[in-house]
Amino acid sequence: MPDPLPFIIDCDTGIDDSLALLYACASPEASIVGVTCVGGNVDAQQVALNTRAVLELAGREDIEVALGRETPLVRPVQTAPETHGPRGLGYAELPAPRRPLSDRHAADLIIEEARRRPGELTLITIGPLTNLGLAVLREPELPRLLRRWVLMGGSYRSAGNTAPTTEWNIHCDPEAAKVAFTAFAKPGLAARPLALGLDVTERAKFTPEHMGRLARRSGSQPDETLGDGGRESSSIASNPIVRFTADALRFYMEFHSRYDGFYGAFIHDPLAVAAALDPSLVRAEAVTVDVELGGTLTTGETVTDWRRVWGRPPNLDVAVEANAEEFLDRFVERVGGLAERLVNVAS
Ligand code: BDR
Ligand code: CA
Repeated sequence: MPDPLPFIIDCDTGIDDSLALLYACASPEASIVGVTCVGGNVDAQQVALNTRAVLELAGREDIEVALGRETPLVRPVQTAPETHGPRGLGYAELPAPRRPLSDRHAADLIIEEARRRPGELTLITIGPLTNLGLAVLREPELPRLLRRWVLMGGSYRSAGNTAPTTEWNIHCDPEAAKVAFTAFAKPGLAARPLALGLDVTERAKFTPEHMGRLARRSGSQPDETLGDGGRESSSIASNPIVRFTADALRFYMEFHSRYDGFYGAFIHDPLAVAAALDPSLVRAEAVTVDVELGGTLTTGETVTDWRRVWGRPPNLDVAVEANAEEFLDRFVERVGGLAERLVNVAS
């Protein structure tokens, strides 16, 4: 097998962020250099707690976790308790993390690790772009020091999920997104950033059927992930990762059932991690994208020049198709496999 891909995840953990972390921990071709935390789905302090708790659930207490800036560059903090629950992990409860936070700032961790291995590190952002915006302001060479930046954010041809044309991660800190998109528009990058917006991440629909398959793959008992009260009750699965995933996703599925018309969940962030590890999961087109900052209705929109009327060179590879079925199978296999291995190690 080739050397594992070193990467940093910048996240606002968050239900689907937590699943992205589990997927990363379950992926043999991945080497997680560090995880950095940004406010978004919940406030940044809660993100830092959730992130460490999830990594410890996955048996990865060794990974450095750093907290970043706690407010967007310009705007006030916004969080999404309706979508992710008051503490960000739906109905799931995890023990308080044992490992302390890093004493590095998230932006410094990103810069220092990129300088340590120029051209090798992939940065995956699955939250608002505050830390990355700050990092490129501190180190304008960052885009050239990275192997690639892969982001979950934006809606390029599809509708938004926060405002009619605006996706959550860009909506929370549009100024940071603008700073980052501009910085990565430089010539001479090893690769154009890969952007997964709602266009593709809303194809990654995780259903109760996937949850059942994941539980069976892990060997959890009983293989029914719900409690006696069915969809109303907490999971009684014996396996801690299965129990966590079922309880977190139950909240997310209820949200999607209210707002998106299906009992299931879009697992945006894990798809971004999976595509960073294996870009063949998506087909992307090189386009020029800018961020609306002055709209009365559209601030935070990722304005995309599909017809090339601006005449500016492309700055993003935007994913336009995804092999969602293959990704969901991989998710079930990998996270179910991790859940099984950890129980066997512990017993
Ligand atoms: C994005 O917003 C957050 O709620 C999710 O974690 C994901 O990163 C989807 O718009
Ligand atoms: Ca997220």
